[in-house]
Amino acid sequence: MRDLIVAGNWKMNKTVDEAVILVQELSERISEESVGEVKVVVSPPYVVLPQVISELWDNSMVSVAAQNCHENESGAFTGEVSAKMLQSIEADAVILGHSERREYFGETNEIIAAKVDAALENNLVPIFCCGEVLEQRQDGSFFNVVKSQIVEGLFHLDNDAFSMVVIAYEPVWAIGTGETASPEQAQEMHAFIRGVVTEKYGHEIAENTSVLYGGSCKPGNAQELFANPDVDGGLIGGASLKADDFVAIIEALKNK
Ligand code: PGA
Repeated sequence: MRDLIVAGNWKMNKTVDEAVILVQELSERISEESVGEVKVVVSPPYVVLPQVISELWDNSMVSVAAQNCHENESGAFTGEVSAKMLQSIEADAVILGHSERREYFGETNEIIAAKVDAALENNLVPIFCCGEVLEQRQDGSFFNVVKSQIVEGLFHLDNDAFSMVVIAYEPVWAIGTGETASPEQAQEMHAFIRGVVTEKYGHEIAENTSVLYGGSCKPGNAQELFANPDVDGGLIGGASLKADDFVAIIEALKNK
């Protein structure tokens, strides 16, 4: 059975002090009892990762992801952080191909594919983001866009490597805008993604792949989004910055 996952993408928010407060609040409230089968992930900025990892050392229910990594192991890439470095601080996962990375930092499917390889080589779970922009939603090309992102970003992987990957569908028009995909739109795309994965890797692997929804997911709409059979949790931006909201979203998934 595939994992149910709530991952909090903090983006460029929280100083060290603020991050420690948030993670301590979360850690107090997240236990085996409170989250059940739900896997919880937090993804703070690089600079606070070691601190957050050490705060969560005794809480095996919360994993820690970086928000990006470089595709090379080391070298003259000023300002970058490699997957190997993330492994050295015992990070568990890394978000790759987020639409903000694609849009503001010019990440192509090819670059993201190389980052996926680097992550897997260093035992980091890639949380692979895909999603269309508003224009592509409106002109009807959204299925093709998402399919190409997945094919070009992930389909070079063999079965074992692909089985490590978590996919996050994040319609760009819904990220940080307050506008959410309707439960029907989310289910339709998630089922489509599972179909694309089935064609390449077969039914069993597709059924075991977690596909998360992201884009203005919050306590008020999480339950109806998660109720869909192919929505296996959420990648949460804004609502992951407050413990109350994040915990409420985890609870919504627990009740799925
Ligand atoms: P949002 O961000 O929840 O603030 O819309 C989601 C994301 O970008 O991962």
